[in-house]
Parts: sequence; structure tokens; C-alpha cells
Amino acid sequence: MAQEDVFKKLVSHCKEYGFVFPSSEIYDGLGAVYDYGQNGVELKNNIKQYWWQSMVLLHENIVGIDSAIFMHPTIWKASGHVDAFNDPLIDNRDSKKRYRADVLIEDQIAKYDEKINKEVAKAAKKYGAAFDEAQFRSTNARVLEHQAKRDALHERYTHAMNAGPDLNELRQIILDEEIVCPISGTKNWTEVRQFNLMFSTEMGSTADGAMKVYLRPETAQGIFVNYLNVQKTGRMKVPFGIAQIGKAFRNEIVARQFIFRMREFEQMEMQYFVKPGTELEWFKYWKETRLKWHKALGFGDDHYRYHDHEKLAHYANAATDIEFLMPFGFKEVEGIHSRTNFDLSQHEKFSGKSIKYFDPETNESYTPYVIETSIGVDRMFLSIMSASYCEEKLENGETRVVLKLPAALAPVKLAVMPLVKKDGLPEKAREIMNSLRFHFNCQYDEKDSIGKRYRRQDAIGTPYCITVDHQTVEDNCVTLRDRDTMQQERVPVDRLLDIIADRVSITSLLKTL
Ligand code: GAP
Repeated sequence: MAQEDVFKKLVSHCKEYGFVFPSSEIYDGLGAVYDYGQNGVELKNNIKQYWWQSMVLLHENIVGIDSAIFMHPTIWKASGHVDAFNDPLIDNRDSKKRYRADVLIEDQIAKYDEKINKEVAKAAKKYGAAFDEAQFRSTNARVLEHQAKRDALHERYTHAMNAGPDLNELRQIILDEEIVCPISGTKNWTEVRQFNLMFSTEMGSTADGAMKVYLRPETAQGIFVNYLNVQKTGRMKVPFGIAQIGKAFRNEIVARQFIFRMREFEQMEMQYFVKPGTELEWFKYWKETRLKWHKALGFGDDHYRYHDHEKLAHYANAATDIEFLMPFGFKEVEGIHSRTNFDLSQHEKFSGKSIKYFDPETNESYTPYVIETSIGVDRMFLSIMSASYCEEKLENGETRVVLKLPAALAPVKLAVMPLVKKDGLPEKAREIMNSLRFHFNCQYDEKDSIGKRYRRQDAIGTPYCITVDHQTVEDNCVTLRDRDTMQQERVPVDRLLDIIADRVSITSLLKTL
């Protein structure tokens, strides 16, 4: 199945099974804003718990905070967001649609890649086992022509983005490449303008006294401005970290690919405060530690890659992204940045207050350097859902849709099913469920055939189902069914907790780190 189709199916599956709904759907939705349903919220909470515990429980020197969404507006001046948190946008005069100029050009680069890949796929089909892809790519005239155009465009684009960006040059590239508006099909473009991504509102009751405030575009600044409060009250010694999970808001111009790019989303960020001069060691540590955290979910190493930044922000001295293989290619899920002392120094300058750290061992004061790990909960959610979604052909010719979610993250861990709705089986099933519900999320289901009930649980990724049958009443054993293998085993009721709890707990997952 084409990856595009897989993605469409995933989006409708998310809605059909209570994972993600479009926001305000009965009013035709609100662009790039989504609500999480009954299963989505459980999966999301489990992702957050896995992250939080790996940071705060497993590191003695990392603590958490929960700072407010509204912050003093000068914070965003100090951080650079008021002046520089912009996207270059362009309008098409005929369709009146607005686009990100950089995205239009990146899409054009992707079109050249597609053309090259099509040539390669065609030749691979034609020559079969004898096909030498590397040789074909380096000698085929059509491929070389597309590749040359692609490389030239890429270079020109990178140059324009690094020069400010150079807005006139971005527009010129769009014109030279004859990029058309996907809606009107015309090249009737406006100038390119900078567009600030922060949402603003007013705080205060009277028009005169109202203050313009922003909805935070990242959670990190709440950590920076609290770092000394935490350090002093928690008696923390450098190196130490502060973790936070919370909402962030960005007025994204191009909001697409479902929950990949949203206007309201959630971040899990950790700032690690280190002694200047040690930051690159810690950068390496966090780069490796974070990838390990991702890989522990078991989707396979081929789903991940680093993207080291060649061009760094002026205040950073190292940066990398952890990318995940989504149905639409490798995409950033997490960023790891060595941000020097930029943010803390800026806050010191703009607030006029000293926020230096005093090192009791060396008797010196300094502004710590910071390594940041920043991951989007929603992107993590999307990566997990897309890697877990499977359609399997069964021996009887039917197809089952199964979410092979890591058991520790699954919304429901166990479904309890009486074989029939009589003969005391529902009562027995309820009794089992009532003893297990204290340990993990269980669901009771007695409607329809057992086969249908298994399918419902497969579709939401429940790792285990137990069936209570007539024999259970006699021998106190149930049938335990595994989601992925569909194997069934007979298990005594009093051993269920031990068998399942260990396999589905976040603690077990954390122990693999
Ligand atoms: N404090 C650093 C920071 O915010 P970022 O690369 O802009 O860095 C970090 O964002 C992570 O937040 C990204 O890797 C991504 O997972 C998530 N993220 C950013 N913008 C997003 C959006 N519009 N929708 C969903 N997730 C987003």
C-alpha cells in the first residue's frame, strides 16, 4: 500500500477509535487544532509518563516544574521570539491563499527527488536482480539532469535562508522555478513577508491598562526564568536539569500532516545546566541518551536517524534532531541543542537581575551553559501510531487491523470478556476485572462474538484479552490471548496479575534503558 494511503487510513483510524478528533468538528473544525479522545488521552498520558519518569525518576539531578503559559512579555523580547520567531509567507492573489515561501520551495525540491526516485523504480523493475542502483544514479542522463536541477535549487535556497532570510531571493526562486498555487494554478504571487508565529492577547481589565501578552511558543523559557529558584530551593549543584511538560502555541501558516504541525501542541522539554566548557560532552551524552529512549520502544533502529545541523543559530554550538520514519518520510520528532548561556544571559540583561550560579566548590560565580532536549508529545504520538498501525491477512482470508503499540504505552492493557452473557460468566469476569483494575487500565466487553471483540481490542492496541468460559467456573483458569501473536494460553486467575503487570508496565520499559 502506498505510504500516502497508509497515512490516510491512520488518520481515519484515529478518529474512528477515539484517539484524535478534529477540534470543534460540529462547527467544521478549526485549522491545525485537534482534540484527543478516550483512547488518545491514555496513550498521550503514557508517553508523558514514560518521558517524565525517564528524566525525573532515573536522574537524581533532574527535577520537574510546571510554569504558567502566560509570562511577562519582556521574556519573549529577551528570548528573541518577538523579533525573530518568524516564517516567510507569500500570498497567491488569485486564490487568496497564504503559503510559507520556504515550504513551497522545499516541496519543489521534493518533486525533483520524486522524479529521480520514479526513474530508479522504473529501471529497477525493468532490470530486476541485475539492477545496479548506484551505477544507474551516477550515469542515467535523466536522473543526472534532475539531480543537477535539484542540487542547484537546494544550494540557492539554503543561501537565501541563511541570508536573513533574503525575502526577495525567496520570491525570485518561486518565480524562476515557476511554482504555481495548488488551488488557483497561477503564478500571481505577492511579495514575501515575515510573519511572527506567536499568538498574542491582552491581560488586564481596562483598555488603557491592558498589557499585550503572548501564549508561550515553547515551554523552555519557563524553565530559564525559574532556574535559580529551583537551584536554590532544591539545593541543586551544576550539572542539574529541569524538566517540564506543557502546552505551546504557534500560529503556523502551513498547518498540515494531521498532528505533525499544530497550532496548539504539547512539548516535553528538559534544560540541563552545565559548567561552561563541559557542554559538548553533555551534548554527546544527551544525544545518545535520548536516542536510546526512543529505540527502547522497539520499532527498530531503521526508524531513526540523527540530523546534525550544519548551520547553527548564532547562540548554539551544536544541534541535532532525532528524526523518525513517518509515512511521509523521515521527520524531526525531537531536537537536542547546545544553547550556550544565551538565554540566561539575555534574561539577566533584560531583567537587570543577576541570575548567576554560585559554585560552592570553586567559590566562583558563572552563568551556566545549557543543553536542551525538546520533544513534541503530539509528534511522538503520531510516530508511535504510524509505526504501530498494521493490516494483517489472516489464515481465514479476513484482514485484521491491529495497533502493535508498545504494551507499556497502550491505552487499555487488558480486556476481560465472558464467553457468553449467562451461566455466571459475566459475574466471574467482573470479579476478575475488579481485582485487576487497581493495577492497570482494563476494559470489560460482553457484546458480540469473541472474534468481533478481539478485533475491537486489536484496533485500539490492547496487548492482552482474557476470556472467561464455563471451565473457568470449575478450574479458575482463563484463556489469555496475545495481541501480536494471537496465541492463546490457559492461565490460573491468581497468576494473571504477575504475568500481565510485568509485561505492560512503564517500569519494565524504563528498566530496559
Ligand atoms: N525550545 C526549543 C524548541 O521549541 P523546536 O524545534 O521549535 O524547539 C521542539 O520544537 C519540538 O516541538 C519539535 O521537535 C517538535 O517535536 C515539537 N513541535 C514544534 N512545533 C510544533 C508544531 N507546530 N506542532 C507539533 N509539534 C511541534
